[in-house]
Amino acid sequence: MTVQADTLVIFGATGDLATRMLLPSLYFLERDGLLDKRLRIVGAARSDLDRDRFRALVRETVAERAGKLDENAWLALANRLDYCRLDASKQQDYPALGKFLGKSPVFYLSLSPQHYSAACANLRAAGLATAQSRVVVEKPIGHDLESCRAINACLAHAFDERRIFRIDHYLGKETVQNLLALRFANVLFEPLWNRACIDHVQITVAESVGVEGRWTYYDAYGALRDMVQNHILQLLCLVAMEAPAKLDPDAVRDEKAKVLRSLRPIRGREAAAKTVRGQYVQGQIEGVPVPGYESEGSESNTETFVALEAEIENWRWAGVPFYLRTGKRLAQRHTEIVIQFLGVPHSAFGRAGNGDLIPNRLTITLQPQERISLLLMNKAPGLTAEGMRLSPLPLDLSLTDAFRTQRRRIAYESLLLDALTGNPTLFVRGDEVEAAWAWIDGIAASWKEAGIAPEFYAAGLRGPEAADALIARRGYNWSA
Ligand code: BG6
Repeated sequence: MTVQADTLVIFGATGDLATRMLLPSLYFLERDGLLDKRLRIVGAARSDLDRDRFRALVRETVAERAGKLDENAWLALANRLDYCRLDASKQQDYPALGKFLGKSPVFYLSLSPQHYSAACANLRAAGLATAQSRVVVEKPIGHDLESCRAINACLAHAFDERRIFRIDHYLGKETVQNLLALRFANVLFEPLWNRACIDHVQITVAESVGVEGRWTYYDAYGALRDMVQNHILQLLCLVAMEAPAKLDPDAVRDEKAKVLRSLRPIRGREAAAKTVRGQYVQGQIEGVPVPGYESEGSESNTETFVALEAEIENWRWAGVPFYLRTGKRLAQRHTEIVIQFLGVPHSAFGRAGNGDLIPNRLTITLQPQERISLLLMNKAPGLTAEGMRLSPLPLDLSLTDAFRTQRRRIAYESLLLDALTGNPTLFVRGDEVEAAWAWIDGIAASWKEAGIAPEFYAAGLRGPEAADALIARRGYNWSA
């Protein structure tokens, strides 16, 4: 049975993630009346603060994000806040934390992953990792399968798997969750959602930002580990998974894990044919000159762009290529999933219509706009001596317009609420994250063995030319 949390402890409460995302999310949840009335929130960090100074810091960071504060909501949030000075690596600091805890605490480790192991061991040693407690951790869960297993083992030493909440913030995005609704709350798509009707799938997460002051972290990871291993593979899972019997944690995560285990390994020489690495050099984004990746740090062989052709080896998807692509410093921020259906098996329209017959295409745009567009063939109005002419037109659904009055939530709001209520459906299970690493490791190892270096691309454009060639090999184009 899941129990509502009575205490949320944020380790690293003065750090970047906590101040930019977690604390503002808690304010919005408070304002919307979504926090349990008994919940206490404890900031735990090394900074020498007391409760009042922590409250002042939270007020400042929340106001930065929310603009004008709703004073009643702020007061209610402020009344929940406490502060405990703690160094996560020091066992002697933990007994003091115990004094702040209720019976069902959630420990949010907003720390660098290298501290997870010490934090879990110290929580356990201090008797704070009880059967009613939960732990929330952020990516990256390791750098490869081996280090991921080591982190999972530390977590498992202190917490049962059902009490470990691994965050992938993409799963907190409203539009990503909408993929489940689109597929499983409509009868329309599912009968066509397979190799018999789908030609190929494209998943693109393009960013215009660079590495934003995280060069050292990023350089050790690169686009493959920073984006594909987690966010893009999660999107792929939601597109490719079988319908779960229920929207319950194990049913959903079992289906996602099956997809990850069915990914055909990309090994050895195949890596050169099926993957593209890129690295940005100086260019312009919206007319503003931006420096190249290396000049922000130092000489590097790390990719800031990756495109690849993946295959899922199961009955539903055998032979359907999934093209995955992500990169930094591209022309614009754009996240999109394209389901390209097959063409009709025979055209009844003769020569006049034939040339214009374009296969149906479902485009799900997740960022920055939220829209779903289905390209359909229609009769073009008017008469010609040759007979009926056809024309493709999109059936457009703008979620942004349809829910205009709704505020766009921070992805962390939904995930924090789930962690507090104890619902792990939208968190990544240990076996999922390991299956994702197993596939990624194969690609990274092949790159290393074959000495595949990133191809340069100018900031502000589409990425390396080889990415266009990758998809053109089967006669396709990237949709955007
Ligand atoms: C993070 C990556 O997980 O996701 C970043 O580490 C990336 O490199 C970010 O910029 C993208 O998230 P979003 O929500 O802005 O698409």
